[in-house]
Amino acid sequence: MNTVLHISTECYPAAKAGGMGDVVGALPIYLPNQGVEASVIIPKYRTKWFDSKSLKTVHRSSLKLGEDQIKYSIEKLDDQSLKYPFYCVNIPGLFDRENIYLGEDGHGYKDEVQRNFAFQIAILEWLMLSKEKFEILHCHDHMTGLIPFMLKACKAYNKLSETPTLFTIHNGQYRGILDWSSAKLLPHFDTSFKGLLDWDGNINCLAAAIKCAWQVTTVSPSYMLELAEDFDTLTPLLQSEKSKCTGILNGIDNEIWNPTKDTYLDFTLENDDWKKFKRSNKSNLIKGNNLKSRRPLFGFIGRLAYQKGADIITEAISICLEKKLVFSTIILGSGDKEIEKSLLALAKKYPRDISVTIAYDEKMAHQIYAGCDFLLMPSRFEPCGLNQMYAMRYGTLPVVTHVGGLKDSVRDINSGGSGIVTKSINAIGFVEGIERSIALYSDKKMFTKHSKTSKNLDWSWNQSAKKYSELYDKFV
Ligand code: GLC
Repeated sequence: MNTVLHISTECYPAAKAGGMGDVVGALPIYLPNQGVEASVIIPKYRTKWFDSKSLKTVHRSSLKLGEDQIKYSIEKLDDQSLKYPFYCVNIPGLFDRENIYLGEDGHGYKDEVQRNFAFQIAILEWLMLSKEKFEILHCHDHMTGLIPFMLKACKAYNKLSETPTLFTIHNGQYRGILDWSSAKLLPHFDTSFKGLLDWDGNINCLAAAIKCAWQVTTVSPSYMLELAEDFDTLTPLLQSEKSKCTGILNGIDNEIWNPTKDTYLDFTLENDDWKKFKRSNKSNLIKGNNLKSRRPLFGFIGRLAYQKGADIITEAISICLEKKLVFSTIILGSGDKEIEKSLLALAKKYPRDISVTIAYDEKMAHQIYAGCDFLLMPSRFEPCGLNQMYAMRYGTLPVVTHVGGLKDSVRDINSGGSGIVTKSINAIGFVEGIERSIALYSDKKMFTKHSKTSKNLDWSWNQSAKKYSELYDKFV
């Protein structure tokens, strides 16, 4: 059995800020069936989950970060609740905070570089000495992108230099671009390796990972094709490394996303009675949010960010309400302050038509997937997107743009699929999408047919886990 260590800054349910947390929390559960034993390591934050768990220290030492000597320990979860071996790096002062990335002012922590570097160095220091042996290191996003570099360039880790590395890009927009002065925080490396860290005159953690990892994946095949065509300044890099690049579509954890067992829902699916499941969850949602009933219900869940097209939603809904189209909307998310403001203003103007909750709320998210008729996803780009899969699993039709992972998972109802794919990525495209959804909803027979197609699709990790295991097999 291959042994793989997933190195990430998030893992659901221990700590999650976005989809990467879901992926790292679920993929390792499905790998053993493919002959891979997967473990996970993340930083130890001060989340509720960590507070409630008992962890056993397996290694304790200190590391050098520039001029500073920093104490750290590696701890291992002492129960079987996660179905895979789970480790964390405890670095008091750097990670014992409630939020993963953002300080109270809503901006990234000022010591982000120190945090990411110390986390990665601690893992390599531990691996040099530990009894636990992992044949492959699987790193996620730029926060762990210097590990493949350090294995190649730092003498101190020579013993690990033959360890294969796989690097997964969950979101290529975030790159870890740093001033060269940060290099002094890294363990000593020969200056002949400097070029591996560099892109456009800065340290670029994402670029370094693409150069140094043995294999690179994105979280959908279409996103890989899109990046190969246009990854702005990184386009030539990805093109020159394309022989080691693959796109593998994410899956979802069918145990957590299970309409018959979902503990976040007040009404679970019983006796396969989908009509009742949808009806009771919808009416619950409508009542709870004081919305008008007897009309199609749309949802949006996620970061209120440009990537997610949150501004497109605001404009499109506003146009549709002015046109007096009959529908209700529930929005759940937080992010860009301007978008938050305009959404709240819209909800104030049309209080019974649109409800806006500025928050991250896992329970409410599950209720929206279960209770809505449609889920809106006007993403400008989407490396994979998991929300459309959660929605379909609960018989909710996604209304999406034709990009990245959305392209790979949602086919339009006009081509026998289970969603509405809009023609253009703007408010007009989305107004059209909403109009088509409303028309579909009024044709009850067709609507039920498509909702049925959607919930019968299989989004579990099995297929993707197989593809990852085939990639791991190339290494060993
Ligand atoms: C990032 C991407 C999203 C993807 C997720 C998990 O959050 O933006 O598209 O689904 O990572 O890979």
